[in-house]
Amino acid sequence: MNIGAGSRRRGAARLLATAVLTTAACVTGQLAAGNGTVQAAVRPGFSDGGVPVGGASRAGTDLAETWSKASQALLKPLLAAAQDARGRPVDCRRAKCVALTFDDGPGLYTDALLRHLKAHRARATFFVVGQNVAAYPAILRRTVAAGHEIGGHTWSHADLTRLPAAAVRSEFARTDQAIKAVTGLVPRIIRPPYGALNASVRMQTTRPMVMWSVDTLDWLHRDSAKVTKKALKSVRPGSIVLFHDIHPTTVQAMPRILTTLSARGYTFVTVSQLFGGKPPRLVYSGASSLL
Ligand code: NI
Repeated sequence: MNIGAGSRRRGAARLLATAVLTTAACVTGQLAAGNGTVQAAVRPGFSDGGVPVGGASRAGTDLAETWSKASQALLKPLLAAAQDARGRPVDCRRAKCVALTFDDGPGLYTDALLRHLKAHRARATFFVVGQNVAAYPAILRRTVAAGHEIGGHTWSHADLTRLPAAAVRSEFARTDQAIKAVTGLVPRIIRPPYGALNASVRMQTTRPMVMWSVDTLDWLHRDSAKVTKKALKSVRPGSIVLFHDIHPTTVQAMPRILTTLSARGYTFVTVSQLFGGKPPRLVYSGASSLL
């Protein structure tokens, strides 16, 4: 799952272009969470709730559109209101909340990360790669059992902008099936690898594409001190912070990051909790500018 700098630069450039496009196409700006902003681009034929309007559903392409009631019941505790370290409810519109996100797992260091998060009663969001879910199903199960949110990050960590539409849908569907087989849940949110997104990819699912507002560059530096410094310098209320739990240096950085941000009064919430128990709509590009 290593990410080449070249790919990341291409991804970043695409994301910037997408952010501009999304702004231009923005129909409604809504749902402020903390200082977060959301851009919702409504496509013809779809309501802003992500439900196809006036047409047959695209069967087989997007499991999230056909959740069973059982799945929704399972999701309820995950989408419950955020709580602070003492178990008191927290309103992220007023309190200092931050959503820590971990991509590319599950992997060999995820269990250590789960222990760090538990020690701080922190919730987080894991954008998992389908292939790794198949390789480490028990780790994913433990992640869900600990109350963390799961998002899809494609089956093979593909740059979706280079794939035909059918292959993009397959990347989502295989990942959904793998996650559902292990946890009974279908992820409600997706993060495209490299942040690489264009209009064609966006059309292949109605689920929110969740980007980030703080990039720790942990994949590049592989240095706990640098990751810590970047995170502590950049986090603001409403931030969505990008980490990768496949790097031991990132996991080793977490105790200090969690301790310091806790001391600053932050509550660690899932992405959906940051938005009041609902996933953000369509494309979320962060509370403070990424690029
Ligand atoms: Ni990734």
